[in-house]
Amino acid sequence: MASDLLARIRLNGDVPRHVAVIMDGNGRWARQRGLPRHLGHREGMKSVREAIEGSVDAGIEILTLFAFSTENWQRPAREVSALMGLLQRYARKEREELRRQGVEVHVLGELDRVDPGTRQAVEAIVEGTRGGDRLRLNLMISYGGREEIVRAARELAARVREGALAPSQIDESLFQSSLFTAGVPDPDLLIRTSGEYRISNFLLWQLAYTEIHISPVLWPDFNREHLWEAVEDYQRRERRFGRVSAT
Ligand code: FPP
Repeated sequence: MASDLLARIRLNGDVPRHVAVIMDGNGRWARQRGLPRHLGHREGMKSVREAIEGSVDAGIEILTLFAFSTENWQRPAREVSALMGLLQRYARKEREELRRQGVEVHVLGELDRVDPGTRQAVEAIVEGTRGGDRLRLNLMISYGGREEIVRAARELAARVREGALAPSQIDESLFQSSLFTAGVPDPDLLIRTSGEYRISNFLLWQLAYTEIHISPVLWPDFNREHLWEAVEDYQRRERRFGRVSAT
């Protein structure tokens, strides 16, 4: 039973602090039903709610969702605009409920490329949920891992050129603080849905030691029990961070 699973993972104690998710399979979900792709994305919003509430219930502190990648800009204009419309609607509709649930929303990515209406809506959800202390939700929008690393390198190079920084001062910690995820601990667990074994340019720096769980479930069918199953799988792993086991 679902509540048994929740009780079990809470009892195990070692709940991942930060879970990141590649929400894949919306298109296939729609195709299987003879529906247009955008209806798969719309259905996927229900799973976003499930993942958020399931995270709060499990005691996960940070949930990072890959909502729109830099590569997604190359999809047909109609699909891009449907996705932006969904994000906008989501940001407007869920703001109050997320605030009530104690969810603090952050939006990370190249937001300059996002249309003004969507940008305004996401800025408003960030503003309206500030201070939520049960879950930090990172929505990755117009995000690409390589671009993030290049952007950080460019920023550090500019500081070196200004004379504000010596190359020898650039270390992992300074580099981390130049990424979109500055100050956020690396994910403990990455979940990818729809059975694909790829990272797809997501959090390339941050996933160095992250445990990966691949779920066969298409994102619109993903619910909180699937999330808890992933957590239980994580709790069976032995994390060594490149070292030898303690036993
Ligand atoms: C991948 O499925 C999913 C996306 C590109 C977008 C994810 C967006 C949502 C779940 C909806 C809105 C999100 C929020 C946070 C409100 P795909 O289209 O690549 O599926 P396919 O591989 O089956 O074609």
